[in-house]
Amino acid sequence: MLVGGEGTRLRPLTYGTPKPMVPIMNVPFLARTMERLYEAGIRDVILAAGYMPQAIVEYFGDGSRLDMSITYVIEETPLGTAGALKNVEDKITGPFFVLNGDVLTSLDLAAMRRHHEQQRGIGLIHLIRVADPSPFGCVVHDATGRVSAFVEKPPKAEAPTDEINAGTYLLEREILDFIPAGRNVSIERETFPQVIAVGKALYAYTTGDYWIDLGRPEHYLAAHRDVLSGAMPLAVEPGISGEGAETLRGHPGIVVPVHAGADVVVEASAVVGPNVVLGRSCSIGAGAIVRESVFWDRVSVGAGARIDEAIVASGATIGPKARIGRGSVIGHDVTVAPEEVLEPGSRVGPSAKITPS
Ligand code: GTP
Repeated sequence: MLVGGEGTRLRPLTYGTPKPMVPIMNVPFLARTMERLYEAGIRDVILAAGYMPQAIVEYFGDGSRLDMSITYVIEETPLGTAGALKNVEDKITGPFFVLNGDVLTSLDLAAMRRHHEQQRGIGLIHLIRVADPSPFGCVVHDATGRVSAFVEKPPKAEAPTDEINAGTYLLEREILDFIPAGRNVSIERETFPQVIAVGKALYAYTTGDYWIDLGRPEHYLAAHRDVLSGAMPLAVEPGISGEGAETLRGHPGIVVPVHAGADVVVEASAVVGPNVVLGRSCSIGAGAIVRESVFWDRVSVGAGARIDEAIVASGATIGPKARIGRGSVIGHDVTVAPEEVLEPGSRVGPSAKITPS
C-alpha cells in the first residue's frame, strides 16, 4: 500500500493526521482498506510510508490485532509510486497488489485476482469510467483488455477514453525490473508506459464499482454522503447510525442521514443534518445549525453557530454565533472566535489562516 504522500490538497487536515489515517465514518480510512484486503484473503501487507508514519504504526502495530502481518518501510525522501515498490523489492516474493492509499472503492480484490490468473499478463490495472476523465490518467486498451496507451490528464475534448486508472494494480514481480533504484519514479507516468513500449502485456480490468479519490476536501465530503446514502456499501444503517445513535433518536432537530460517534451531545434546539458525521464526544450548542459536514472527535460548536459543507478536525472549537462558509476546512485544535465569519472555502490551520482555498 502506498501511504507515503503528504496529502497537500487535504491541508490543514494532513498537518495533524496523515491522509491514510483520515477517518471515514469515524474509522481511519486505512483500516477500511485493511478490511477489504482481509476479505480477499490477503494477510501480508507492506506499508510504503514516509509522511507522519508514527500515526500509522501506532494504530496498526504489527497487524496481529487484525490477524494480519504488517511491515513498514519508511522512505527518507519520497520515492514516488513506482520507486516505493522498488524500495521493497526484497520483501516481494510473488504477484502482489498495489493500492493507492487514498482510494475508497467497493472493488472486489479476490475477483481481480481471478481475472489476472486468466489473463496472465505482467500486470492488471483497475479502471473505472468517469463522466470527465480530464483530471485523471486515461488508459486505452483493446477488446481483450490489453493496454495500448496511457494519456495523463487530457483536455476533456481530446480524451481518448472515459476509462481511468483507479489506483489498484495486481503486478507480477517482473515489473520491478523496469524500475530504477534509488530515485523518485512514477508508476503511471514512467513504468507502465515503458512496460507496454517493450511489448509486455499489461491488462485493464474495468469495473462499475463505487470509486472516489479522497485526496480533496470536496471528494472527502462526497464520500461521506455516498456512504450515508448507501451508494458506497459500508454497512451503515439508514437514518441515524453510529455508536452515538441512541442519544439522537427522537431528537427533533436531527435531519437524517446522520452518523454519530459515542458520547455526542446535541442541545435540543440545535439542528443537525442532513449528511452530517459527528466524531466521538462532539458537542453542538443550542440553536446551532450543522449541515452537510464531517466533524472528527471532540469538536465543540457554540450556541447559534452555523456550519455548512465543512470538515472540522479533532479538538476544534467553533465559537457561539460563528458562521463557517461552505467548503471550509478547519484544522486540529483550531478555535474560531465567537461571531467570526469564515468565507466559503476557508482553510484554517493550527497556526495560519489560509483564505480562501
Ligand atoms: P497530494 O499532495 O494532495 O497530491 O497527495 P499525495 O501526496 O498523497 O499524492 P497522490 O494523491 O498523488 O498519491 C497517491 C497515493 O500514492 C497516495 O496514497 C500517497 O500516499 C501515495 N504516494 C504518493 N507519493 C508517494 C511516495 O513518494 N511514496 C510512497 N510510499 N507513497 C506515495
